[in-house]
Amino acid sequence: MRRMVAETRLHPADLILPAFVREGVSEPVPISAMPGVVQHTRDTLRKAAVEAVEAGVSGIMLFGVPEDTKKDALGTAGTDPDGILQVAIRDVRAEVGDELVVMSDLCLDEYTDHGHCGVLDAEGRVDNDATLERYAEMAQVQADAGVHVVGPSGMMDGQVGVVRDALDTIGKEDVAVLAYTAKYASAFYGPFREAVGSSLKGDRKTYQQDAANLRESMRELALDLEEGADMVMVKPAGPYLDVLAKVADAVDVPVAAYQISGEYAMIEAAAEKGWIERDKAILESLTGIKRAGARMILTYWATEAAQRLAPGTAAR
Ligand code: PBG
Repeated sequence: MRRMVAETRLHPADLILPAFVREGVSEPVPISAMPGVVQHTRDTLRKAAVEAVEAGVSGIMLFGVPEDTKKDALGTAGTDPDGILQVAIRDVRAEVGDELVVMSDLCLDEYTDHGHCGVLDAEGRVDNDATLERYAEMAQVQADAGVHVVGPSGMMDGQVGVVRDALDTIGKEDVAVLAYTAKYASAFYGPFREAVGSSLKGDRKTYQQDAANLRESMRELALDLEEGADMVMVKPAGPYLDVLAKVADAVDVPVAAYQISGEYAMIEAAAEKGWIERDKAILESLTGIKRAGARMILTYWATEAAQRLAPGTAAR
């Protein structure tokens, strides 16, 4: 009866798998702070994409990890047509075609030697408008590589509009923009730093939002929609369910939530210690995010959770 009257139902198609691909490795590299998640080789990424399709996952969000020697102040590897992310987009499209919505992180932090999401000015501050020019270029190389959806995640003002224009200019009107609309400067990104080998010292408080603020997210939302966002995202998910609920209530575009690295790590770590029941905690966390209003959920458990949600399996 609980199953019959459940108000919220998770479905494999709700889930999007974030995946890391690292340049120049022949074996996948485990991420110690995210047990079960790896930096893929080009080859294992293709396999992971196929597995996700088979499980019914609807999308994949790709992050590139360049060789350390390729990082520089401008993050040029991010706009190199043969940069690791672009190569990975082509690989995944070649492997799964349109069976997965192929998305890409559009941000410089994986490619800059200082680890910031943008380029810096003479004083070492992130230069919003100079960064927008880099994002425009990134959007174009990612679209040329065949991505379906770009995800500008750097929280620069005006990024959605610039990316939309850049795509339209080269005839990529059909590439959609998933805006990281409400992205908070969060301690829960910790394990992600290891996942992408980030060189960041300091924090992102000058461009990401303050955890204290909700109204600010509504302002960011209005701007992103005006600039042409096709979908919007709230991130992190768990600690920001009120933001998610409010955003979901306010718009008629699809709303995504990103269950981030630290949310993943907390459940895995507690489970490893025997302090919580892992499988139940995972589905409960995802159900909560869906209940709060997410149409799509980015989660490192996407494939596993989708497998467990498959018709005929008793998920709960
Ligand atoms: C920026 C980006 C970050 C994450 C996704 N895109 C890091 C940041 O903003 O500091 C974090 C994802 C996670 O923690 O799982 N490229």
